[in-house]
Amino acid sequence: MSLFAWRPEYTVNVASLDCNHQKLFSILNSVYENVMNSPEIGCVLPRIDELSEYTNYHFSAEEEYLKKQGYSGINEHIAMHREFTHTIESLRSSYNKNDLEVSRDLIIVLGDWLLRHVIKEDRKYAEQGGALTA
Ligand SMILES: [Fe+2]
Ligand SMILES: [Fe+2]
Repeated sequence: MSLFAWRPEYTVNVASLDCNHQKLFSILNSVYENVMNSPEIGCVLPRIDELSEYTNYHFSAEEEYLKKQGYSGINEHIAMHREFTHTIESLRSSYNKNDLEVSRDLIIVLGDWLLRHVIKEDRKYAEQGGALTA
């Protein structure tokens, strides 16, 4: 069973951003499963890199969309994104130090953050959005 899963009710009414969110949840699950089941550093670091790269990709796409939309809360939204990016960096460094307990805790923090962010913060722009497409 997946620990973090996207659900249709999390939609932000932009198909490409919904796809990004689904993929982010799926990468986060794979990081979690790797840390739990095969804690060898060589297995997990590439997954963390993938999470970091895909997160950057998604945040850029979403921030671009918010700019186009003229979203009033854009600065606060970007600041929240930076928080998530920093937590991924903390995960990378705890994993590099072989601190599995902290790494596992950080993955839970990331999963909770992503879920809350998508259903609360991302939905705010979904509610403001008109006919714009990303
Ligand atoms: Fe998002
Ligand atoms: Fe966001």
